[in-house]
Amino acid sequence: MKKLHRPVLLMEVIENIAVIKGGIYADLTFGEAGHSDVLLEYDISLLVGNDRDKSTLDRYLEHGKYRNDSRLRLVEGPFSQFISQTEELLFDGILVDLGVSTRQLLEAERGFSLMKPGPLDMRMNPGVGEPLSSWFAQLTAEELANELYRNAEIRESRRLARKIIQAFNEGRLTDTVALAELAGPKIPGRSHPATALFTALRMMVNQEKDEMEQTIPALIDRLKPGGRLVVITFHSTEDRVIKKIFLKAAGRCTCDEPICRCRQKEKVKLITKKPIQPSEEELSENPRARSAKLRCVEKI
Ligand SMILES: C[S@@+](CC[C@H](N)C(=O)[O-])C[C@H]1O[C@@H](n2cnc3c(N)ncnc32)[C@H](O)[C@@H]1O
Repeated sequence: MKKLHRPVLLMEVIENIAVIKGGIYADLTFGEAGHSDVLLEYDISLLVGNDRDKSTLDRYLEHGKYRNDSRLRLVEGPFSQFISQTEELLFDGILVDLGVSTRQLLEAERGFSLMKPGPLDMRMNPGVGEPLSSWFAQLTAEELANELYRNAEIRESRRLARKIIQAFNEGRLTDTVALAELAGPKIPGRSHPATALFTALRMMVNQEKDEMEQTIPALIDRLKPGGRLVVITFHSTEDRVIKKIFLKAAGRCTCDEPICRCRQKEKVKLITKKPIQPSEEELSENPRARSAKLRCVEKI
């Protein structure tokens, strides 16, 4: 199976998830199976792979290395549904590698590409939910600005949102490249000025923050004692959400009140006090990994 996607922080994931013989694992963002294929090299008893993109699971079922292995179970859907779909299981390790895969980014028809023209879509599971164009048709410029700020803290979000809604209403947003151009010209050697805009819009269309906030605390409850949860994020807003959930689960104060009101029962210990980031060596081979941050907790 041709791999377009390089798994990010692969060795760091394996080290932190601390695979045990006969263990039960879940990869909630199965993607191109970059991490799962390595987990399946170990003597584990079950790996549940989840993805909301049906095409990615179908491709694995056709060509994937472990497609006929009885230890692998694939589940389709947003990971917020995963909890109810696997009620009978407790896990020794869970991986969540957020965002989109390189394949999804490169397939222009999915609408994630800044460089190749594609439709205003950006749904990770095409056919479910509203494509980006429907969001543009329904949101006011102010509502869109709030989404851009909430998801990726885009500076000048109001100005950019006004430009987008105006261009959309005038029929000028014919494809993703026309959308990217609204963020300004690409300067050689620098990342595209529309990168953060596309991240924010993708997070809006796929309701990614809500997915994280709903699911990550529930995943902690599905770990066995000693089980580990590893999360990789690609944007500081995502990392902040994960950090807060982990600190709360570790019994730390996460509120700004003079007298703490948020203190909760200690459910986990923090394995990574600071997030792990890719080495220079990984970055030289895979510049897409540059903003990745890995955090890990262990169930008490
Ligand atoms: C960064 S890729 C994962 C890549 C994978 N770890 C690998 O190395 O091949 C993220 C994948 O998770 C899926 N995904 C993202 N958010 C999701 C969610 N909330 N529920 C289910 N799948 C999700 C995407 O469709 C994509 O295939």
